Amino acid sequence: MTPEPPDRGEPLRALRGIHDVLYPQSARWESLIATFAQLASQAGYRLLVSPLLEDASVFRRGIGSGSQVVGKEMYEFSDRDGTMVALRPEGTASVARAFVQHHLRAPWKVWYVTSAFRHERPQAGRYREHHQLGVEALGPQDPDLDVEVIWLAHRLLTEVGTDRLSLSVNSIGDARCRPGYLASLRGYLGPLMGELCKDHAGRVEVNPLRVLDCKRPECMSVTAEAPRFTDHLCPECSEHFERVLEGLEALSIQARFEPRLVRGLDYYTRTTFEFASSAMEAAQNGVGGGGRYDGLVEAMGGPPTPGVGFGLGVERVLLARGPSGADDTVVGVDAYLIDLGDGSSARDLCAKLRLAGISCDRAFGERSLKASMRTADRLGAMSAVIIGDQERARGTVSVRPLRGGEQTEVALGELSGVLASMRDSTR
Ligand code: HAM
Repeated sequence: MTPEPPDRGEPLRALRGIHDVLYPQSARWESLIATFAQLASQAGYRLLVSPLLEDASVFRRGIGSGSQVVGKEMYEFSDRDGTMVALRPEGTASVARAFVQHHLRAPWKVWYVTSAFRHERPQAGRYREHHQLGVEALGPQDPDLDVEVIWLAHRLLTEVGTDRLSLSVNSIGDARCRPGYLASLRGYLGPLMGELCKDHAGRVEVNPLRVLDCKRPECMSVTAEAPRFTDHLCPECSEHFERVLEGLEALSIQARFEPRLVRGLDYYTRTTFEFASSAMEAAQNGVGGGGRYDGLVEAMGGPPTPGVGFGLGVERVLLARGPSGADDTVVGVDAYLIDLGDGSSARDLCAKLRLAGISCDRAFGERSLKASMRTADRLGAMSAVIIGDQERARGTVSVRPLRGGEQTEVALGELSGVLASMRDSTR
C-alpha cells in the first residue's frame, strides 16, 4: 500500500509541553552543562550516556508503579515487537540498570545530562519533556557521600547564580524502621481521611507517604502535625542522618529540616533533599532534588549496592537565575568573512583562522556586501573581514570592527594575530 502523501497545508509544530531550545538560550544551556561537567569530573564522576527508551519494567520496578510519575505520567507503549517500552521519566533507574547489566564494580560515580518525559499538565516551568543534569554514586553507604552529592548540587546552583536558593533535608529511614513509621502515620491519617484531597483520601492504606508529598492545601493542613519520620528512625539511620547534617554544617551549606520531604519516587531510603528557588511559583519552584536509594540496584536484579544522587531541572535552573547569574551577553564569532569574489579566499582563510584558534563564520553564495554585513551584525560577530578585488591583489583584507572602531587594512599573515588581540581586548 502506498503511504498517504503528507498533508502540506498546516505548518507542523512540536507537541504540547515540548520545546525547541534556540540560540541564545541554547548558549546558556551549553554554559550550564559545561560548568556542571567540570564540577562533576573534578569530583571523580564520569559521564554516562544511557538510552532514552527502556523496557518499561526498569521504571516500574525502580521508581514504583504506585508513584505518580510511573502510574500517571510515564510515556509507556508497546513497540512493534509487542515489548512494553517507556521513555525515561528520570535518570536514576537507568543508571542502576546499567550498573547491573555491565557487572560494574562499586564505587561507581557517574554524571549525566538527559531528556526526561512526563505527561504532566504543561505550565511555566513544567513541561512534558524536560532535561536533567544529575550525578549518581553507587557503592558506599557512607553519609559523607550524601554530603558530597549535596555539596555538588549546591556548588553548581550557587555558581550559576540561582536566586533565593533554599535547601530542605529529611531522612525517611530504611526497611528496618519504615514499617513502624508507616503504622504510626496510618494511625494518624486514618481518622482524618475525609479531610484529604480527592487523590489521596483513598491512598492512606496503600501508600501513606504519598499523602505527605501532596502540596494541596487540604493535605498540607492535615500533614502539618503528622508524626515525623526522624522520630522513628532506627539507631543506624539516625546516626547516618546526624552525620549528614554535621557534614552540611561543616561545609557551610544551610539546610532546613523538612519532616514531610519524602519525594515522589518510591526508591528513596534515608536521606532526601530538595533545592528550591523562591524566585519561581511555589508549584514549580523545585530546581532539583535527590537522595539515597539503597535498594534500587537490588530491585534491578543486582547485588545489594547502596546509592545516592541528585537531578537538577535544566529549564528550572535557568529560570531561577538571579541578576548575578543572568548574564545575557551573546557571544558571537570573532570574525565574519565576506568574500566579494568567487568565495575561494573565504574558504581557505576560514580553515586557516579556525586552526589558529580564531572563531569565524562566513557568507556563502553570492550576496551583496550590505546583506552580508547585516548577517554579520545579527550573528554578533566582533568584526567583518572583507575580501574585495583590491585587497586580494595586495594580499590583504579589510577588518571592520562591528562594536566600535575604525576599519583597517591588514596583511593576510597578520590577520589571526590582529583578530586575537581584538578579541582579548574586549574580554
Ligand atoms: P525529580 O525531583 O522528580 O527527581 O526531578 C528532578 C528535577 O527535575 C526537579 O527538581 C525539577 O527541577 C525537574 N523537573 C521534574 N519534572 C519536571 C517537569 N515536568 N518540567 C520541568 N522540570 C521538571 C528525579 O527525577 C530523581 N531521578 C533525582 C535523583 C537522582 N534522585 C537521586 N538521584
